[in-house]
Amino acid sequence: MIKFLDLQKITSSFEPELSSAVENVLKRGWFILGEETSSFESEYAAFIGSRHCIGTANGLDALRLILKAYIEIGVMKEGDEIIVPANTFIATILAITDNRLRPVFIEPDIDTFNIDPNQIEKAVTDKTKAICVVHLYGQACWPNKLQQIAKRYELKIIEDNAQAVGAMVAFQSSGSGIHLKTGLTYKRTGSLADASGHSFYPGKNLGALGDGGAVTTDDDDLGFAVRTIANYGSAQKYIHYHKGLNSRLDEIQAAVLRVKLRRLDSDNQFRRVIASYYTTNIRNPQIILPGIGNQDSGTREQDFHSPGAILHALSHVWHLYVVRHPERDRLRQFLEENGIQTLIHYPLPPHKQRAYAEYSDLDLPVTERIHREVLSLPISQVMTIDEAGKVVEIVNKFR
Ligand SMILES: Cc1ncc(COP(=O)(O)O)c(C=O)c1O
Repeated sequence: MIKFLDLQKITSSFEPELSSAVENVLKRGWFILGEETSSFESEYAAFIGSRHCIGTANGLDALRLILKAYIEIGVMKEGDEIIVPANTFIATILAITDNRLRPVFIEPDIDTFNIDPNQIEKAVTDKTKAICVVHLYGQACWPNKLQQIAKRYELKIIEDNAQAVGAMVAFQSSGSGIHLKTGLTYKRTGSLADASGHSFYPGKNLGALGDGGAVTTDDDDLGFAVRTIANYGSAQKYIHYHKGLNSRLDEIQAAVLRVKLRRLDSDNQFRRVIASYYTTNIRNPQIILPGIGNQDSGTREQDFHSPGAILHALSHVWHLYVVRHPERDRLRQFLEENGIQTLIHYPLPPHKQRAYAEYSDLDLPVTERIHREVLSLPISQVMTIDEAGKVVEIVNKFR
């Protein structure tokens, strides 16, 4: 059986460094808000390219805390609207409604699965305070139009970077960022917007050995508010500025993440190799491969050697390799019978969940179609090319 994700193999590929990092924390006997967490926060902020990083208990809390902090510092208030892609994982929506803000669901582009930039502006009202972009399945979502709209209506942009840790976006300018030989400047997702939420859930590209998350931002006031709120609303012991909560990254997870962060770029590069192998070799007329590329025009780049694809190659870290098929369940069954485990991300969109019955009448045909047709093939940094070859062989046999 080719597993969808072999977490045991991923974990053991980091040994012996991982066990020794955990052992150091055990010996030190300091488990919350200690040196591992503050070192991880500095290292992660430098990696992402943002001024502040605040470790949180998980990715959902990272997003919740950003919005709660915006409310506490007076940027948003109860009842304000947040524009968000309708096909995201439910956590993005939970963060909004938990703060008594209103999600405004926008259709995605069917090829890239990311928010359709052409649908955003018509959803803006005088209650809109932010656009939350989700870099879904690991692909950066940073269309020019998004920034223009945010500027025009004075909206905050928030990145949900849970699935795209390490992804980069290319810019023509020579401003701050990472300079590669192409003459372009690259910035990481998580450093692009006003604030970003990250997840270190074990199955994520940078996975802890339990829950973990982070907020990154360049905004000093927001960063301070997030850190304070996450610690019972307190910046100074037993003095409480906000009605806060308890959401902190613990020392063991921080120590684990420090080890794994050092290898993240090469792990992501390996995922690109597997993804490129799939894209080049899957030849089945009914299977629609994931599109990468220019999200302003919605162009799909399937030829990995075209200039557009090279430009966009680093924008994707392939958290998931998601194909579409009109008979998705039959394809899934066939793969299962032939020893290939797959998953569906996600079978039901948030507005069709019982938890959000108040939105069940929304007309979102692209989103609903995506949820009927998507299937995630196995992909990870420890998968072999032989395994990817087997997946391709079986996928190509399906009729
Ligand atoms: C798009 C998206 N947002 C938010 C989250 C929430 O992250 P966590 O599971 O760490 O709470 C996840 C992950 O599960 C996610 O995929």
